[in-house]
Amino acid sequence: MAQEKNFAWLDDAVFYEIYPQSFYDTNADGIGDFQGIIEKLDYIRSLGCNALWLNPCFASPFGDAGYDVSDYYTAAPRYGTNADLKRLFEAVHEKGMHILLDLVPGHTSWEHPWFKASMRAEKNEYTDRYIWTSSAWEAPEGMECLRGISERDGACALNFFAHQPALNYGFYKPDKPWQQAMDDPGPKATREEIKNIMRFWLGMGCDGFRVDMAGSLVKNDPEQKGTIALWQDMRAFLDREFPSAVLVSEWGQPDRSIAGGFHMDFLLHFGPSRYTDLFRSETPYFAGNGDISAFIEKYLESAARAGGKGLICIPSGNHDMPRLAHFIHGGKQKIAFAFLLSMPGAPFIYYGDEIGMRFVEGLASVEGGYRRTGARSPMQWDSTTNAGFSAAPTDKLYISLDPKPDRPTVQAQLADPDSLFHEVQKLIAIRKENPALGNRGQIEFVYAEKSAYPLAYLRTAQGQKVLVVLNPSEKAVSFPCAYTPKKTIYAFGGEAKAENGTLEVPPETAFFFEV
Ligand code: NOJ
Ligand code: CA
Repeated sequence: MAQEKNFAWLDDAVFYEIYPQSFYDTNADGIGDFQGIIEKLDYIRSLGCNALWLNPCFASPFGDAGYDVSDYYTAAPRYGTNADLKRLFEAVHEKGMHILLDLVPGHTSWEHPWFKASMRAEKNEYTDRYIWTSSAWEAPEGMECLRGISERDGACALNFFAHQPALNYGFYKPDKPWQQAMDDPGPKATREEIKNIMRFWLGMGCDGFRVDMAGSLVKNDPEQKGTIALWQDMRAFLDREFPSAVLVSEWGQPDRSIAGGFHMDFLLHFGPSRYTDLFRSETPYFAGNGDISAFIEKYLESAARAGGKGLICIPSGNHDMPRLAHFIHGGKQKIAFAFLLSMPGAPFIYYGDEIGMRFVEGLASVEGGYRRTGARSPMQWDSTTNAGFSAAPTDKLYISLDPKPDRPTVQAQLADPDSLFHEVQKLIAIRKENPALGNRGQIEFVYAEKSAYPLAYLRTAQGQKVLVVLNPSEKAVSFPCAYTPKKTIYAFGGEAKAENGTLEVPPETAFFFEV
């Protein structure tokens, strides 16, 4: 008997992304584990986060850090067993938190038994699980492919790295004999198997999934109509069997993903959102000399198209991009978090960003990370050996630690009332206390001029109005403001002056005013 739908927890969810390899190692093998996450839940809770997203933690040869799954139904032994993962779900729920796993439906590892069967010349259950052309001499147009490695005569389409063959969900408009339609038996079987995988983990107690490359499942689908329809079918299955299951997409186009039944979508370092203008361009806005106007234009466009349904989520970072602290320094990091934690949508904090962990330059690539490896270094807990991440010999750590002697640690930041940790903690608490700042409150940009500072916007919900004014620049700035601050809910870096319809704010400051 299916439960009632209940997504109320999303209204005040603040997520924490955990890259499990690098979070906390409890058995001294140099790599993080499920037990490590269980032991650090109180830390995450103390920051104010009440939900987790865990990067893939399934059996894998780890050619792409686990985004190359070889068995969707088994936890990777290096993190623990399925029973340990279930214990993590239970521990999360006991603390009133929620947890999303990472679902990778677009491709498997080439070591997956399905792929091995699919490479065989004789027809079998997995012949159509992947996208194969009808001859090894014919490459699939517009896609990279694998050929010359199978007994089967064909080229197999790839989704990402060479070891990640694309699963077959069909083509929106097939125009070659080997291209199957979305409702052909092969693509339908793939889809049903993904439902089984969701059934398995939801049945064990996870609350939903972050879905990898969610927008690219159906091929030859330029407007993603086929992929949207596919996700609507997945959602209908969830509504029948796990109505409270939550889905967040790596898609980057909320108008499309939300139409597909996702509750949330990310703005990302790729796609049309101009997310990189905030923290990661040549001149990021929050570094104090940038331009936020294109971001806002795109943001308003997606918000309007998403029609108030679903949450548009702006992450502090993730395991695929250089860390926020690589570009944004000092007090400006606090202003960046004042932005992240006062925008609508569910905030996502990438582990370690709350203490300003740095992007580690010059690391050798680990597990297909390449440059991304620098954003995946072990969490810095304290000043003991290996920053308290692991009791393994230092040369056995999964990725090397930030070698700088002044690397930030949780321990040092907890002891410092002015630390970034405490600012983030305070901002989350303020977000939770003020309905206007919540995940579903309205937003209206009051001042977001081209290449200008400050950025000002009004958040509204339940009769409360909060004016947010952010000035990451190094100059005092003012803007015409029709709202009169009645009460200061949050101030960082100085005092604002309101006079004759103008609001003036000092350099490197952030304010939330009730108006
Ligand atoms: C996006 C994931 O975030 C990234 O880490 C991965 O390499 C690709 N998708 C391929 O799965
Ligand atoms: Ca371990």
